[in-house]
Amino acid sequence: MAAAIKPLVAGNWKMNGLRASEGEFRKMVEGSIAGASGDCDLMICPPATLLASLSAIAADAPFSVGAQDCHVAQKGAHTGDLSAEMLKDAGAAAVIVGHSERRADHGETDEVVAAKAQAAWRAELLAIICVGETEAERKAGEAVAVVARQIAGSVPDGATAENTVIAYEPVWAIGTGLTPTPGDVADIHKSVREELVQRFGAEGESMRILYGGSVKPSNAVELLTVANVNGALVGGASLKAEDFLGITAAYS
Ligand code: 13P
Repeated sequence: MAAAIKPLVAGNWKMNGLRASEGEFRKMVEGSIAGASGDCDLMICPPATLLASLSAIAADAPFSVGAQDCHVAQKGAHTGDLSAEMLKDAGAAAVIVGHSERRADHGETDEVVAAKAQAAWRAELLAIICVGETEAERKAGEAVAVVARQIAGSVPDGATAENTVIAYEPVWAIGTGLTPTPGDVADIHKSVREELVQRFGAEGESMRILYGGSVKPSNAVELLTVANVNGALVGGASLKAEDFLGITAAYS
């Protein structure tokens, strides 16, 4: 069953990208059409200001666009926030929820993250739910337990392989150039898989579990071909077409 999972390589541009970045995205789309990408689903999650223009560029390509966060409500008096419905309307097919930067910068709890995942489903968006331990938690030998707790609290009942992707991103590996060993990645992804199967049965068997944290073309093969790694969530290296496409080539 697991062998049938089509990987997803998604880029998270975070708070990077202006209209001028449309050209770089166009290169990614054209590269994928020309066969420069691997055999995987492709997605870029730009800042919300670029969702509409990038989704127009990708309109006829096998490339989707996602958002980086959403509010839990559909609409209302929430100045500066964006609902999942608005993101969908702007062309998003997915939304990242619970990224560690939002958990840290905005105090998002597992409960809030779960509510955001449900908001994503309400708007018929794929929810990319992020989990991952801090450096201190890893050093204390708590990585597996922390991730298990985050999965239990952040992934709502009703998750399916269609509506949900899990992204394991160890906080200490994000933007640092540090990565876990393939063996460490295998251990965490195996335990995440077991929890998903226990809770969601066959859906849990085919739900995608992405690895994220300092993925680049030179380490993509060793990290992304580990058992139960079904793709990547890429930060810095997703800003350049050559690097992003180079990472997807791990699935060639
Ligand atoms: P980097 O690839 O820059 O380490 O970021 C990973 C990440 O946070 C993706 O969501």
